[in-house]
Amino acid sequence: MEQVISDVVIGESAVMRDMMSRAELVAKARKTTLITGPTGVGKDVLASWLHRRGQSPDAPFVTVNCGALPESLIESELFGHLRGAFTGAQDTRKGLIKNAAGGTLFLDEINSLCLNAQSKLLRFLETGEYRRVGSDHLEYANVWVLAASNRNLQNEVQRGSFREDLLFRLAVMHLDIPPLRMRDGDIELLARHFLTRVSNDLGTFTPRAVRAIYKYAWPGNVRELKARVERAAYLSRSSTIDMADLELDGLESSKELIMEKKPLKKTSSIALSDLYQLIEKEGLTLGDAIARCEKAIIQAALDVEHGNRTQAARRLGIHVRTMFKKLANE
Ligand SMILES: Nc1ncnc2c1ncn2[C@@H]1O[C@H](COP(=O)(O)OP(=O)(O)O)[C@@H](O)[C@H]1O
Ligand SMILES: [Mg+2]
Repeated sequence: MEQVISDVVIGESAVMRDMMSRAELVAKARKTTLITGPTGVGKDVLASWLHRRGQSPDAPFVTVNCGALPESLIESELFGHLRGAFTGAQDTRKGLIKNAAGGTLFLDEINSLCLNAQSKLLRFLETGEYRRVGSDHLEYANVWVLAASNRNLQNEVQRGSFREDLLFRLAVMHLDIPPLRMRDGDIELLARHFLTRVSNDLGTFTPRAVRAIYKYAWPGNVRELKARVERAAYLSRSSTIDMADLELDGLESSKELIMEKKPLKKTSSIALSDLYQLIEKEGLTLGDAIARCEKAIIQAALDVEHGNRTQAARRLGIHVRTMFKKLANE
């Protein structure tokens, strides 16, 4: 079932369900966790989801982008420093670990952490203790540490830029988010979610746009999908989003998407005059006649796709669940 928790679409694909059921356990155990996956798959989203799931709502959530801080600053940012500990340290600072006490510290781009800070972090993870820069005094903080990387940390270990013991310690629990193209039906679910977020009246994608969404490789993953759908929705002048509005590189001239038309079997077609007859002779309402017509069209799509439901729904530009609902309606 589709689940949306605070604007997070979890999806229905087996890979995501599997990952999320592990995430539930992680949130319960509140153990140090490494989140991996290529750029844009939702590592930040998952970290804040875990935090909300595993803590009281007022517990602090502190994010540190390790890649954005210069090596000289990261240690004092994380662990704090004493006044005068180094040139420019005019005040005493308590550091982000202290700020996160009782809550979650999310170390994004952990691969960028310098070796010095890595060893201090390892010690903190093992004992819960640390020292501010320039201090001998041991401090303690109860913090749930989540870390994310889009690099393979094993490779970084081989290159000597990441401590192997820290990797073991971080990956007590490991959640790997699959790239969007591996998430099957979720691509469409997410696309529709982002479209409704932008505008409720700009409701639909053309069937050709839906096929293109499936066909495209999404190298920038969910981030790219969101950006393209939002842009298309803002720029489109009509009430539907077509393939061209998404501006997917390399797909504009894909013959397969534009001309992918398989002939319908004669038997499955329904003529307009037949439909009108239904209303006249059988006393159906317009709504009932249309529902019957929809069923005939769905059946035709199923025939064309040799009974493959996902393909048939894709062909019609609707979600498989919507298709089932229409088929089930009496
Ligand atoms: N499951 C999801 N549901 C809704 N939005 C998502 C989901 N996953 C990612 N996003 C959106 O995609 C973008 C990229 O997500 P982010 O967590 O920053 O990716 P990463 O940290 O892996 O690069 C963000 O705008 C985020 O809101
Ligand atoms: Mg990120």
